[in-house]
Amino acid sequence: MRVTTRQIAQMKRRGERIVMVTAYDALSAGAAERAGIPMVLVGDSLGQVVLGFDSTVPVSMEDMVRHSAAVARCAPSPLIVADLPFMSYQVSEEMALGNAARLLQEGAAQAVKLEGGVAIAPTVKRLTESGIAVMGHVGFTPQSVHQLGGYRVQGRTEKTAARLLEDALAIQEAGAFAVVLELLPPEVAATVTERLTVPTIGIGAGPECDGQVQVFHDLLGLLPDFRPRHAGRYGDLAGVIDEALSRYADDVRHHRFPTSAESFPASASPARTVNSRE
Ligand code: KIV
Repeated sequence: MRVTTRQIAQMKRRGERIVMVTAYDALSAGAAERAGIPMVLVGDSLGQVVLGFDSTVPVSMEDMVRHSAAVARCAPSPLIVADLPFMSYQVSEEMALGNAARLLQEGAAQAVKLEGGVAIAPTVKRLTESGIAVMGHVGFTPQSVHQLGGYRVQGRTEKTAARLLEDALAIQEAGAFAVVLELLPPEVAATVTERLTVPTIGIGAGPECDGQVQVFHDLLGLLPDFRPRHAGRYGDLAGVIDEALSRYADDVRHHRFPTSAESFPASASPARTVNSRE
């Protein structure tokens, strides 16, 4: 049985910490499933960590739908939240509705996430009144990176901290079931978390949020040249992969792979699919 938004809400009421991680494909979705993580974000961070762009801005609806569907296929237990990409929801409420519906129907997600506060609250209301579960995202909003002038902590002054609280409250009032708080001073995130009845999910926002979300590649050290300061360090897999691939290349070049034991006849070579890995 898949985790529901109702169960996520109950976790805050029970004081249970909420774990979320991003996933983009069969590998990351399968890993999140095996780890028993209750909520998975098909983040538009896929623009950077999967597609090689330098921001989330170029990510398209087609990208999100395809990756969301892959994650939903390979992670049958967690609640799947898929990001609405840049300009897929800001132009009109009708456009937001149509694109959110695509993420649910074609992308098989259970909820969508969108960025923004007071200004986007009417769109959140329209979606939630249409039966779509919405997660908000305030603080540093990566789709506005060029307007915000880079990857910077938000809400550092009393005035901007108060505005952030207003933003989060407006999104909750509009019906969101949870709100991501990104790059906020820990004390600001703590105040927002205390004032909201829906769960807050932090990233670079200190330990007092109701839950935490991390980007899969950051957490596992999969990208050797990029690891943000707020990333948890639970692996250094780039080193492991680089070493394994170098050894493989070296072995092929020096006729050490395959050995006769490793080369088997075509008839014994099984078809490779996600669900059949004999
Ligand atoms: O796209 C993403 O990975 C996100 C997280 C940073 C919350 O939105």
